[in-house]
Amino acid sequence: MTDKRVMLVTGAASGIGQATAETLARAGDEVVVADRNAEGAEAVAAGIRAAGGVAHARAFQAGEDASVHALVDGVEEEIGPIWGLVHAAGLLQNAMTSQVMDMDEHDEIWRVNYRGTYVITKAVGARMIPRQTGAMVTIGSINSFAALPLPSYCVGKAAVKSLTELLACEYGVHKIRVNGVAPTYTITPAIQARIDSGHRDPEAIRASGALPILVYPQNIADGIEFLLSDKAAAITGVMLPIDAGLIASAIYKQYVAPVQGFGQIGNG
Ligand SMILES: NC(=O)c1ccc[n+]([C@@H]2O[C@H](COP(=O)([O-])OP(=O)(O)OC[C@H]3O[C@@H](n4cnc5c(N)ncnc54)[C@H](O)[C@@H]3O)[C@@H](O)[C@H]2O)c1
Repeated sequence: MTDKRVMLVTGAASGIGQATAETLARAGDEVVVADRNAEGAEAVAAGIRAAGGVAHARAFQAGEDASVHALVDGVEEEIGPIWGLVHAAGLLQNAMTSQVMDMDEHDEIWRVNYRGTYVITKAVGARMIPRQTGAMVTIGSINSFAALPLPSYCVGKAAVKSLTELLACEYGVHKIRVNGVAPTYTITPAIQARIDSGHRDPEAIRASGALPILVYPQNIADGIEFLLSDKAAAITGVMLPIDAGLIASAIYKQYVAPVQGFGQIGNG
């Protein structure tokens, strides 16, 4: 056991979770890299250790009560008290209408993304409450705020925002902060592969925000690191968009009436 803060990061074998685990380790935290992909988690933990950080790999299944409790109990007993939780394990989905959504796929996405967040925040919360310290970060999405054509995914991400607010209220009295991040389309290896194969248009992604940039896992990890830091000591119950201004500019970009001095927005 070290005197570092122990951070449990799920979904850390890939994408946003991986960038978060690496970022927290670079900042001096002891990191638990948890994922259903045991090999991937071990590779990320080994990379952190090779770079001079402290990291442990753990395999688990998000949303499965017994597996989540075994993970949390094991970390507490073998590594140390969990100071911070980042729950980035999650499933993405392809666009479709609610009419064609297969209900088994619906239930699996809901089980991992929403229920998975509930079960692990509950298990870690039970450990943090007696200690009266700690912080959690959930992962929402731009569609925590408005629907995209992703029937189970978008409803689950809206529910994660609501759960984040609920837990912030419940746990605040115990000095535990609960926040979330709401990433826009983020260029993870999976999205990059879709760009490389021509299935996603990076220019359309770049044009979707107020800032004409692509957002990478490191951008999301930087926001999570901030929310877990003392600099966010007075911040709880927030679902922080890390979206290059997509949410703020969505309605602006739809404005069609001519504005004096601006001509017709969208048509020059
Ligand atoms: N990439 C984006 O554009 C984007 C945008 C908004 C929100 N998000 C959210 O960010 C989070 C991370 O997504 P990502 O893009 O980094 O995806 P990713 O696929 O790169 O990483 C997700 C990780 O979660 C793990 N995982 C999946 N199901 C699991 C389960 N049942 N138990 C344990 N581990 C499991 C996977 O093995 C993988 O390592 C998700 O909640 C996702 O909804 C992503």
